[in-house]
Amino acid sequence: MKVASIVGARPNIVKMGPVHKSLNGSGIEHLIVHTGQHYDYEMSEIFFHDFELPKPDIHLGVGSGTSCFQIGEIIQLLERKITEKDIDLVLVYGDTNSTIAGAICANKCNMKLGHIEAGLRSYDFTMPEENNRILTDHLSNYLFAPTKNAVNNLKKEKIRGKVYYTGDLSVEIIATIKAISRQSKILDILGLKSRSYFLVTMHRAENTSSRDYFIQLLKTFESLIDSTFVFPIHPRTKKMFKTFGLLERLLKCSNVKTLLPVGYIDFIALLQNALKVVTDSGGIQKEAYLLKIPCITIRKNTEWVETIKGHWNVLTGVDSEKIVDAVKRPSPRSNYSKSVFGNGKTSGIISELISSIVQ
Ligand code: UD1
Ligand code: UDP
Repeated sequence: MKVASIVGARPNIVKMGPVHKSLNGSGIEHLIVHTGQHYDYEMSEIFFHDFELPKPDIHLGVGSGTSCFQIGEIIQLLERKITEKDIDLVLVYGDTNSTIAGAICANKCNMKLGHIEAGLRSYDFTMPEENNRILTDHLSNYLFAPTKNAVNNLKKEKIRGKVYYTGDLSVEIIATIKAISRQSKILDILGLKSRSYFLVTMHRAENTSSRDYFIQLLKTFESLIDSTFVFPIHPRTKKMFKTFGLLERLLKCSNVKTLLPVGYIDFIALLQNALKVVTDSGGIQKEAYLLKIPCITIRKNTEWVETIKGHWNVLTGVDSEKIVDAVKRPSPRSNYSKSVFGNGKTSGIISELISSIVQ
C-alpha cells in the first residue's frame, strides 16, 4: 500500500511527524510531498530535523503568493507529480493552503483522501483556515477527528466521508518532545530562567492585516515594562511590522526578546518554561493546555473549545487592555482534563485504520 502525505506549512510537518513513523512501522510505503508553502530553514527544514523525518520525496517549490496562486500552483504541480505514482491514499493535515490544495487534487484525480485533524470549527469565516478545513472535510473519504466535539461538528454537517475518532496527535508529540526539550540550550542562550517570562506569537492573516493590532501588541509590551516577553517572530509578522513602520518601536521595547522563529524542540522548551503564552496560533493553544501553561489567545474565538474550560485558555482578541488583564490574572488551578485530547496513541490508531480501510 502506498500513502502520500501532502505538507507545506510548519503545522502540517509537525502533525506528520508521528504519522510518518507509525505508517513506516506498519510496513506502509509513505511518500512525503512538500508543497514549498514554507521554505525558510526555520519554517520548514528544521522541523524535518527535529522530528527525524527523511527529506521529502517530492518538492513542489511553490513559495509564497496569494492564496489563489499558491493553491492553484500546488494543484497543477501535484497532479503532474503524483498521478503516475499509483497512490492508494492521499493524506492532508490541518487547515492550510497546502491542505485544501492537496484535497482538491486528490478529488479531481480520483484518489482516496484522508483528512487528519478533521472536524474543527471556529465558525469564524474571516479565517482562511476555517474555509480550508470545511472544504477539505467535505472532499474527504476518511476523516480522522481529534476530539468528540470535532466528531459532532462533522455529524451536524451530514458529512459524506467516514468519520473516525482518533484523539489528537499533540498528546504523543508533546510527550516525546517534552523530554527531548530538556536538553535544549535556548533558555541559556537567551539568558532566561524558568518561569521568568511570557512567550508570544502572532501571525494570523486577520491579525497581521491591521496596523491597529500591532499597536495593541506594542501597548501591551509597553505597559508591562517589568515583565519579560520572548517573541519568535513569524516572517509574515516581521514583514508587516516593517510595512506599518513599527519595527523600531518594537525593538525599543527593552523587555521584549525578539527572535527568528525557532525549531520545535526549542519552542517546546520555551513554552514549558514560560509563565503564560500569548498567541493567535491554533496548535500552540492546545500544546499549552497539554503542558499546563496558561494561554492568552489573541483571537475572539477558537476551534480548540476544550481548552477554554477552567480558564486555561482565555480569549482576549488583540486588545491591549484585555491582554494586560489576562497576563496579570492568577493562573488557573483546576478543571483540567488532558483526556479530552485522547490517549496519546493517535498515530498508531490512524495507521491501523489506514491499513484496514484502504485495500
Ligand atoms: C500559514 C497557514 C496558517 C498557519 C501558518 C503556520 C494558510 C492559509 N495559512 O500561514 O494556517 O497557521 O502557515 O505558520 O495556509 N514567509 C516567509 N518565509 C516562509 C514562509 C512564509 O518569508 O518560509 C512569508 C511570506 O512573506 C509569505 C507570508 O510569510 O507571503 C505568509 O506565508 P503563508 O504561507 O502564505 O501564510 P502563513 O501566514 O505562514
Ligand atoms: N512553533 C515552533 N516555533 C515557533 C512557533 C511555533 O516550532 O517559533 C510550532 C508550534 O509549537 C506549533 C507549530 O509550530 O506546533 C505550528 O504553529 P503555528 O502557530 O505556526 O500554526 P497554527 O497551529 O496556528 O496553524
